[in-house]
Amino acid sequence: MDNDERHAGADWGEAMSTAEMTIGDGEPLPEDTLLAVRGLKKHFPIRGGLLRRVVGSVKAVDGIDFYIKAGETLGLVGESGCGKTTAGRTAVRLYEPTAGEVLFNDPQMGPVHIEHLTPRQLRQLWTNIQMIFQDPFSSLDPRMTVGRIVAEPFLVHKMLSGRALQDRIAELLTVVGLRPEHASRYPHAFSGGQRQRIGIARALAMNPKLVICDEPVSALDVSVQAQVLNLLEDLQKKFDLTYLFIAHDLSVVEHICDRVAVMYVGYLVEMAPTEELYHHPMMPYTEALLAAIPKPDPRRRSRPIRLPGEVPSPANPPSGCYFHPRCPYAQEICKQERPPLRKVAPEHWAACHFAETLKLQGVPRLSQLPVDVQAAPSAQPSTQAPSAP
Ligand SMILES: Nc1ncnc2c1ncn2[C@@H]1O[C@H](COP(=O)(O)OP(=O)(O)OP(=O)(O)O)[C@@H](O)[C@H]1O
Ligand code: SF4
Ligand SMILES: [Mg+2]
Repeated sequence: MDNDERHAGADWGEAMSTAEMTIGDGEPLPEDTLLAVRGLKKHFPIRGGLLRRVVGSVKAVDGIDFYIKAGETLGLVGESGCGKTTAGRTAVRLYEPTAGEVLFNDPQMGPVHIEHLTPRQLRQLWTNIQMIFQDPFSSLDPRMTVGRIVAEPFLVHKMLSGRALQDRIAELLTVVGLRPEHASRYPHAFSGGQRQRIGIARALAMNPKLVICDEPVSALDVSVQAQVLNLLEDLQKKFDLTYLFIAHDLSVVEHICDRVAVMYVGYLVEMAPTEELYHHPMMPYTEALLAAIPKPDPRRRSRPIRLPGEVPSPANPPSGCYFHPRCPYAQEICKQERPPLRKVAPEHWAACHFAETLKLQGVPRLSQLPVDVQAAPSAQPSTQAPSAP
């Protein structure tokens, strides 16, 4: 489908309501769904030869279904290269999808199909959807002052200027635990945690409904991670935010997420409420991820988890269940038939032929992060806020 075809006749009023859309094999969406994704694919072409012809494709995301309810945090986890970032970006059309439907319950416009929107409509929609990136060092322009970085969305949309803009910047910096006078400084003058706070202030500028947090604490020291996570939780309550929280570290996900979706080589292989996923995983890949949760060590940054065996390439995945070459429970059928993601319990989906019969090992849900999150100072909005780490 080309862009013209997709946009032909599309207007804001065309999308179906959440009650009409289903996911998986016909499961209705919860009424308070903010974002729903069905059959989403993103394939990147592989070019070769002198003429740079397309000789294959990287199926980074290959047909995934999930939903996020308003006000909740959905974690998206999996090993490096399994398609988490591509899934997040394609869901909100920062990458053009290869196929699939995405429904967003826009507070102003009602339910809209993101894949149908024109570029102008999309720009309007993106004021309600923002991103926080992994690397607070490269995601902020070093030539801009902090004030200019946070002001950017208002300048692009020509929404505020002069005193009103200065006041809003001061308010946003305060809300994320920085000080209004920080507006005149450049990003290099700040620590990693402070830079991530600047990125969060920029993301909150337009009062978004949905924030895609792509490994927002992975590059930070563990003690600072806890403080930034607390800040994200405080802001969620204060501003009624919904998060898609991408991470490889399951201990981080456990603390902040209401539900967790697990990805493996372009597919969702399990999705369940956090407590349930940790106690009763029903897909062997989730069991392996849980067993690999790193031991708490406040001196170390979290590292990508490593499981035994290689992650298959999404350009050349194995037959049947993609996890079968690494799965201790694999049987003959696993090499031949790929199990679909199917509902195995209320709010619990799993893609395994033997989901109901395997007795997989969960882990007790930790009440603490690697560094005691409860003990970590939370960045409360205050005009007297101390300089946060
Ligand atoms: N622009 C691109 N062109 C071609 N291939 C890409 C592109 N972006 C991502 N890929 C490939 O798609 C797959 C999924 O990548 P993605 O970055 O989404 O994974 P990820 O789960 O976010 O990994 P990480 O944990 O390392 O961030 C990888 O094989 C990656 O090499
Ligand atoms: S379908 Fe088979 S290979 Fe795949 S996770 Fe289940 S048991 Fe393992
Ligand atoms: Mg990524």
